[in-house]
Amino acid sequence: MLIQRIIKKKIFRIESAQAMGVHNGFIYLVILLIINSIPAQQTDLITNIDNRQKISLDGNWQIIIDPYESGYYDYRYQPRGDGYFLNRKPATKSDLIEYDFDTSPQLQVPGDWNSQRSDLFFYEGTIWYLRSFNYPLTAHKRVFVYFGAVNYAAEIYLNGEKIGSHEGGFTPFNFEITGKFREKENFLVVKVNNQRRPQGVPTLMTDWWNYGGITREVVLLEVPETFIQDYFIQLKNERTANDITGWLKLNGSRSRQKVKIEINQTGGRYIFSSNEQGLVTIDFKAKLKLWSPENPALYAVRICAETDTVTDTIGFRKIETKGSDILLNGQPVFLRGICIHEEAPLRGGRAWNEADAQILLNWVKELNCNFIRLAHYPHNEHIIRLADRLGIMVWEEIPVYWTISWQDTNTLALAKRQLTEVITRDRNRAAVILWSMANETPLSAPRLIFLRELTNQARSLDPSRLITAALEERYVDKTTRVIDDPLGEFLDVLGCNEYIGWYEGLPELADQINWQTVYNKPLIMSEFGADALYGLHGDELTRWSEEYQESLYKHQLNMLKKISFLRGTTPWILTDFRSPRRPLTYIQDFWNRKGLISSRGEKKKAYFILQQYYQELQRTKK
Ligand code: GCU
Repeated sequence: MLIQRIIKKKIFRIESAQAMGVHNGFIYLVILLIINSIPAQQTDLITNIDNRQKISLDGNWQIIIDPYESGYYDYRYQPRGDGYFLNRKPATKSDLIEYDFDTSPQLQVPGDWNSQRSDLFFYEGTIWYLRSFNYPLTAHKRVFVYFGAVNYAAEIYLNGEKIGSHEGGFTPFNFEITGKFREKENFLVVKVNNQRRPQGVPTLMTDWWNYGGITREVVLLEVPETFIQDYFIQLKNERTANDITGWLKLNGSRSRQKVKIEINQTGGRYIFSSNEQGLVTIDFKAKLKLWSPENPALYAVRICAETDTVTDTIGFRKIETKGSDILLNGQPVFLRGICIHEEAPLRGGRAWNEADAQILLNWVKELNCNFIRLAHYPHNEHIIRLADRLGIMVWEEIPVYWTISWQDTNTLALAKRQLTEVITRDRNRAAVILWSMANETPLSAPRLIFLRELTNQARSLDPSRLITAALEERYVDKTTRVIDDPLGEFLDVLGCNEYIGWYEGLPELADQINWQTVYNKPLIMSEFGADALYGLHGDELTRWSEEYQESLYKHQLNMLKKISFLRGTTPWILTDFRSPRRPLTYIQDFWNRKGLISSRGEKKKAYFILQQYYQELQRTKK
């Protein structure tokens, strides 16, 4: 009975897909059945690395640049089988070994290779990394190697043995190496390849630099035999502000344990028991100050199982929608935001540490923002934890960007995996209020089916947050734009990117435009803006000048003020950023210049227009 009901519903979806002019319903039925047979990924990701026992492997790593992947394929382009690039030294003087890590150059980890060496600026291919380490063997302990992120595909070897692989450049992953290492002279080899691929997430075309490498921290994590692998502790979304709910997962043979949760500031202590699967259901009452931008209250939470203890700092808040309102702790809120790419301010290259995050969020605070959209992929954990402390709400997104291979089931599995990894890493951060499924994806039935799968995945992993996506408006006529993308039905908050006055017409066009939507939902105008080269001046119709960008912002803000269901804005973008799609000499030089701040940290005229607008909103508490 159930399956008939599901299929009927799906057929209805296909009919609506056909209504959107797509004809082959049967194919999509097959796709649907296949897609639904893909089990939701359970990641074995360990959460809250910050507060765990660990040894850093950051620093200089030996590298071998391997454009033809000769460390992997022989001259017949047949895989050589593991082990070719994995030994340190030639065994005897007559051995024919054509590589040597010991004499090879080095690269910094964490760090992308493109900004570390000018000859690798455009490099897309394979680089082999090697790091040797000693590690004291301790009984009854388990050890994992944890990567904050590797762009794009990583193959991991320890002492010549393959321990795992990972695809996706912006989310963490870990592998257990217990029993696979010795006290001295271990060597970890990582084959990193950042070549873009049609079935990838992201796919071939993006408007950001494809920084390759081991771009975030690498640590060896030491945990007890049975340890606290993952947990989620948050306010119940129902009305009462004292109801805390969540769960906890133990990993190891001692699955049945007593677990105590202590909240330092309140002295609260709550005892629970784990079941046969090592799972604990958390449910308790506590009178807590709610987290908000005005008061980013964070509590020191101590989670004590019989065999393991983890501490964390957690804020408690409610985020929901009501009609076209976004409610934070039950109060309507306007999201005064800005988009950010994960590029190190001033230094260039991929940002990865707290200092980078601090510079970016200082500018965000100066702009009078209370919200950031981290585009278009999960950024490093430092900026999320800093936003938590500074009281800045966060939109996080996975790089389902432009023309993804919607009908490829591996591509869907990859997107689901990235979504699971970012939610696992950040679900205890109060600052994160929105999970975004995609950016500017062209309408089609396969796309709708794909993205619906992601919204379902996100809701099943985290029912406490809002789901969104950056949609595109539909042109009705010269003065009317409507947001009626069918995906809107499955979102809590609509995001919309528009470039009126830049890719379409001149800035004053915005004055004539009215916005409509078919949904009774809040809108965040998730992108708008114009390129300007800092220091280039002209009249307000001179493209690339600061005056043009400034004028565009003025006209945009006037248009936005008229939209009754607008509840947030994240203009494109805080700082200029590298893009391989921007070759215009002397103006772009491979920079997207839509930043309000230049790559040297100089504020453009439009920066002050937005700063003032947000100040007014803040003052009028809209
Ligand atoms: C798009 C896209 C951005 C891009 C921007 C631009 O909307 O989402 O990634 O950089 O427009 O063209 O500058």
